[in-house]
Amino acid sequence: MTMTKIIQVKDDLSVIDEAAALLAQGGLVAFPTETVYGLGANVLDEEAVRRIFQAKGRPQDNPLIVHVCNREMLCRVVKEIPQKADALIRAFWPGPLTIILEKSNWIPVSVTAGLATVAVRMPSHPAALRLIEKSGVPIAAPSANISGTPSTTRAAHVIADLTGKVDYIIDGGMCQVGLESTVIDLTGEEPQILRPGGVSFEELQEVLGKVAYEPALQDSRQVPKSPGMKYRHYAPKAELMLVEPKQRESIPTIFAEKKTLGKKTGLLCCSDETYQADVVINCGSSAAIYAQRLFDSLRRMDEEGVDFILAELPEDEGGIVPALKNRMLKAAGGRIVNCTDIQTKHI
Ligand code: TXA
Ligand code: MG
Repeated sequence: MTMTKIIQVKDDLSVIDEAAALLAQGGLVAFPTETVYGLGANVLDEEAVRRIFQAKGRPQDNPLIVHVCNREMLCRVVKEIPQKADALIRAFWPGPLTIILEKSNWIPVSVTAGLATVAVRMPSHPAALRLIEKSGVPIAAPSANISGTPSTTRAAHVIADLTGKVDYIIDGGMCQVGLESTVIDLTGEEPQILRPGGVSFEELQEVLGKVAYEPALQDSRQVPKSPGMKYRHYAPKAELMLVEPKQRESIPTIFAEKKTLGKKTGLLCCSDETYQADVVINCGSSAAIYAQRLFDSLRRMDEEGVDFILAELPEDEGGIVPALKNRMLKAAGGRIVNCTDIQTKHI
């Protein structure tokens, strides 16, 4: 067991500096980003990187994202910065975009799970940038949750998952985006989105001209390029099913059946209709608010001891919606009300 210290960040970012110093020397530090909380270690310290996998219970073949705070650091992480990467960096960094590039020899293969490519991103949360800057090294960080569970968007979630496993937890409040960064691969012929996230398809298209979703996102029977996308993810302890807006009239019958079986029911909704669920969480009137609250809501349902959750799918399209649907579909194992087949589309 590690003694975990919690640091509250308000206006004075210098409270982070002791955690940054320990991180540089091999410590594990959970920190806020604008997407979700990250579990960070010094990229160059193979023992610390090994501890990340151990703390999360993460499969060894799933590579980590390398977080940098400036261009100089980026240059040391990758072999070269192609023109398309440069355009994306100018448009979206610091921010919720991860770019896959050829890795430099400086980055140990333990971070990239043996791949010749590296995922790199510059987060925009001031506490994250300060942590990287003060530690003086790139930070390898997956999301700061136990593998398979909903990602963490508040310090309280990280405290629940990782106390005793990390040296510091930096509390920087609630994450703004609430879903992970978009992962885009620039090592192939054409730019491919491996994971939808905080930067939208439309925004990427505007900068790159041509961009496509990786085929496995449209059909989960294909093997995904991003090792992490093949694992069960984001799942609450409760059984979760999704419901399309046009199928809402089925909700009362489903809840009635579950209640007969003695199950405690939960509803994640986008409207005021509650369908007499035992626990109701309103996920707001826009997809952006839903995205921000999704993981927090799934975790709250578990805390309330809910056995069965119905979550309404968002009505809009575009923007953050493919990312939101992707996380919801994965968390629900592809199960949608009145769809006899498990969904194979994951956006
Ligand atoms: O928003 C985020 O990206 C957060 C915060 C903490 O920055 N991090 C995050 O990390 O979501 P993680 O480990 O949960 O997800 C990283 C994803 C995984 O799906 C992994 O397989 C993929 O990126 N990935 C990492 N390196 C890769 C590579 N070289 N090639 C393809 N996919 C890669
Ligand atoms: Mg994750």
